[in-house]
Amino acid sequence: MKKQDYTFSFEVYDSIDELEEHDAWLLSEARQVTQHAYAPYSHFQVGAIARLDNGEIVAGSNQENASFPVGLCAERVLLASAASLFPKVPIETIAISYHNENGESNHPISPCGMCRQSLLEYESRVNHPIRVILGGLEGKVYIIDKAAMLLPLSFTAEDLSSPA
Ligand code: THU
Repeated sequence: MKKQDYTFSFEVYDSIDELEEHDAWLLSEARQVTQHAYAPYSHFQVGAIARLDNGEIVAGSNQENASFPVGLCAERVLLASAASLFPKVPIETIAISYHNENGESNHPISPCGMCRQSLLEYESRVNHPIRVILGGLEGKVYIIDKAAMLLPLSFTAEDLSSPA
């Protein structure tokens, strides 16, 4: 038996003011996009904005449904839009923010497990890492170089391949 380590580091900023201008812009847009969420059940509005390699900007926000499992997270709405509007164009950076109507919105939240799986697949299908910026409406900001770092020991297309 041997132990295997998984280490992962990310950048922590005290506020949006410490970010490079283009990253600060992206996060402030993500904060705005929380207003486009449809979240009458959770009252938790999530906004995501991506800058693509071709310079295009794509947005996503969570879209809930009276039939709860039908609801979609902001990140997966964004990825579906990006792939549909600009197929094969890598996503350079995604910024994710949120507004919690029932509490604070002052610390970064991290994508849920399903969204991590979707981000990972997007990275591999266009063969390009996605930088992830996480921040609330105020407070600390995290920057992660590559979405795959959020999902160690992941299940991927390679696991489905059959031997020749
Ligand atoms: N949500 C997202 O949009 N992204 C996440 O990564 C976490 C959760 C949404 C789903 C649901 O509409 C609401 O936030 C509360 O879970």
